[in-house]
Parts: sequence; C-alpha cells; structure tokens
Amino acid sequence: MARKRVLSGMQPSGLLHLGNLLGALDNWKALQDQYDCFFFIADWHALSTNYADTSRIREFVHEMLVDWLAVGIDPNKATIFVQSSNSDHAILHLLLSMITPIPWLERNPTYKEKQEQIADRDLATYGFLGYPVLQAGDILLYKADFVPVGKDQLPHLELTCELARRFNSIYKYVFSDPQELLTSFPKVLGTDGRKMSKSYGNTINLSDSEPVVRQKLKTMVTDPARVRRTDPGNPDICPVYDFHKIYSQPAVVERVNKECRTAEIGCIDCKKLAADGMVAKLSPIWNARTQFSRDPKQVQDIVEAGADRAKKVSHQTVEEVKDAMKI
Ligand code: TRP
Ligand code: SF4
Repeated sequence: MARKRVLSGMQPSGLLHLGNLLGALDNWKALQDQYDCFFFIADWHALSTNYADTSRIREFVHEMLVDWLAVGIDPNKATIFVQSSNSDHAILHLLLSMITPIPWLERNPTYKEKQEQIADRDLATYGFLGYPVLQAGDILLYKADFVPVGKDQLPHLELTCELARRFNSIYKYVFSDPQELLTSFPKVLGTDGRKMSKSYGNTINLSDSEPVVRQKLKTMVTDPARVRRTDPGNPDICPVYDFHKIYSQPAVVERVNKECRTAEIGCIDCKKLAADGMVAKLSPIWNARTQFSRDPKQVQDIVEAGADRAKKVSHQTVEEVKDAMKI
C-alpha cells in the first residue's frame, strides 16, 4: 500500500530557534519515517509580509535548509524543496484565486490579527489577502493527506478544505480534504520568560555558538521571588527549569527540583547545568551545521533533486485541474 502523504512548509523569515526545533522539526523528523513527506520553504509566502525588504531572503532560505538538514530532515526519506523553484505553486494559486470569494479571505482571523501585530509594514496588498489561497495551492498541489501545523494555521487549513470542495462542486472531483496533524510539544520559553519568538528577541538559535548559548542562559530570567542566594525558589515557575526538563538527565532534573526549593543550589550553578545539558544535545546539530555550511553545492543539489521530485507530482495535479476547468 502506498504511504500516505504529508506536506508542510515554513517561511524563511529568520533564523530557526529552539522553539521551532521542538515545535516543528522534531515532529517532521518522526513523520519522515512513516509517511511520504514533502517539506518546503515558503519563500513566496515570506514576500507577503516583506515585499519591500528582500535583502536577506536568500540567506534565510539557505540557513533554513542548513538547519533542516543538520537536525536530520533527510533528503533520502523526504522531498525537500523551495517553493519558488516550482512555478506550479503560482499556477494553482492563480486558478484557485478565480473561485475564492473575497469575504472568505477577509473573515480569516489571521488576516486581521497579523495586520494589527505588524504595524510597521504595509499589509494592504492583494498578495497578503491571498496568502491562504497560496497556501491552499501548496497543499492541494500534492494532494496531501496530512498537514502538520501549529494551531495558528488551522483557519488556513479550513479554507483549503473549503476551496477544495468548492472546486470539486463547480468543476469535477479532483481534491479530497487534507487533514491537520496537530502535535503536542513542550512549550518553549525564551530567555525573558515569555514564549520563545523571534519577534520578542528572546530566542536561542540553532545557529548560535556554544559561548552564545551559555551567555544567553546566564542572563535568563528565573523565579523572580528568588532575589538572594539564600531565598528558596520555585522551579515550577522558572523557565530555566523548563529547559532542564527538556535537555537535562533525569537525575539533574530531580536534583534541581529539590535543591532549588531549599536554596541548596544557586541559580548560577543551576543555569550552568542547564547549559551543559543543552550543549550536549545541540553539539551534533552544530557539527552537522558546520559540515553543510561548508558545502553549499551539496545543499543546492539536494533542493534541486527535491524540486524535480515535487514537480513530477505537481505537474499531474495541474494537468488534472486544467482538464477539469476545460482550459
Ligand atoms: N503559513 C505557514 C506558516 O506560516 C507556512 C506554509 C506555507 C505552510 N504553505 C504551507 C504550512 C502549506 C503548511 C502547508 O507557518
Ligand atoms: Fe530557576 Fe534553577 Fe534558580 Fe531554581 S535554581 S530559580 S530552577 S534557575
């Protein structure tokens, strides 16, 4: 029996951090063993909020590929490519846009939210309004069975299903409904104790070096009630303890849990232990990053081969769509 297909994309809007690793990439890594996976970099989507400044987009695409490969997204298991290298995404976007009612896009909650969040850039464009149509095209082009995404993407997935059904009913049956694959992952807090996010400037990046990671942990916020060394602390409300739970050996986690509450261990030592655990887990990724960074040709070859594989699938869908539309 053919394996079910999984598709997901990521915007190259900056350097990847530990939140992205624990939230998406670790999950993708597990999926590639089980499913026929397509993972792509959504560089056209990144234009929708950044059209005026494209100076770093190629760099971000490359760094993202290096990150993916370094964490173990494997081109022998999954099809890895860049959206802009397959123009079928533009074709399906255009054709779907013809049948997309504008109110469906205007009522999309992320449309309004993003406009409020991103006040410093112009989002009053046709491309930004049509962002979910481009995304629907990405998904339907490969007839994905499952789409692993975070909760914030659910409205886009719903619109994808609505567009698929609308297409089928206007022309003929081409698309089945893709399903979301919501995954639970540990919440990852940044160095300031808020959710780890590029826009807060509180991230630990996969591309950070060991000294940078250690420094970031040193200045990380802790239980605010623990002012003096002799004050007992509460690990349950300390973001450093969250890192222990993710990266440290069980014995260390247990020790911190006990000794923080009795003020036996101080925050400086506790953070050093957290950094040790994190560095141990990140070291293999850093080594692989260095290898891939030194060999841009290899990275290029991987995404070119990925694009060829992607096109084989997407060409067929585009033909079916044109046939259904009689054009
Ligand atoms: N919109 C997604 C995000 O910002 C990225 C994306 C683009 C995507 N096309 C996709 C995700 C198709 C899943 C499937 O995270
Ligand atoms: Fe947080 Fe560790 Fe300090 Fe406790 S000892 S408050 S867990 S940093």
